[in-house]
Amino acid sequence: MAPRKFFVGGNWKMNGDKKSLGELIHTLNGAKLSADTEVVCGAPSIYLDFARQKLDAKIGVAAQNCYKVPKGAFTGEISPAMIKDIGAAWVILGHSERRHVFGESDEREAGITEKVVFEQTKAIADNVKDWSKVVLAYEPVWAIGTGKTATPQQAQEVHEKLRGWLKSHVSDAVAQSTRIIYGGSVTGSNCKELASQHDVDGFLVGGASLKPEFVDIINAKH
Ligand code: G3P
Repeated sequence: MAPRKFFVGGNWKMNGDKKSLGELIHTLNGAKLSADTEVVCGAPSIYLDFARQKLDAKIGVAAQNCYKVPKGAFTGEISPAMIKDIGAAWVILGHSERRHVFGESDEREAGITEKVVFEQTKAIADNVKDWSKVVLAYEPVWAIGTGKTATPQQAQEVHEKLRGWLKSHVSDAVAQSTRIIYGGSVTGSNCKELASQHDVDGFLVGGASLKPEFVDIINAKH
């Protein structure tokens, strides 16, 4: 089986404007990025088209959320078809900020890590038809935007358990091929050690994805 390609997503969240994002894009387009890393930038929906048009084609673009139906009377929402239409191939779904701030549900209440992670993954797995299109992000809520990062060992332990869950509940092939990435205060300084863990297949990066150090994170593995 082919090795899992390292995946680094930048989640810009609700940050930036045309000027600052244009500068960031200029930096990314001009940087030497490892060809062994798949890079995707998650832009606010109003800047999706701007990001897709300005970013080099080798860098993917993600929406930060969508509503599952193709079209209709859903004020304020965007659909997967619209995301595809402007040439963006990815969407971040179920980010914890959507659950906590906007009350979206994964049909669960908080509990211990393993229980929460397995329940959330089951809610996803029940709806996935093609796992080759999915990257799973593990983001401990206490690590998001706090400057507190999971230790490489903590991240590895959860990722390994998650892969084990995929093996038992989906298939061995899916467990081996699905990228499981870590998010939560990843920076240019802690990325290499995290990336050295066997089951850490990349990162979902918030704050640091808006800075030039995002390039170091993209190149963490290679
Ligand atoms: O989706 C990325 C994320 O929630 C982590 O944010 O700022 O801790 O890197 P940050």
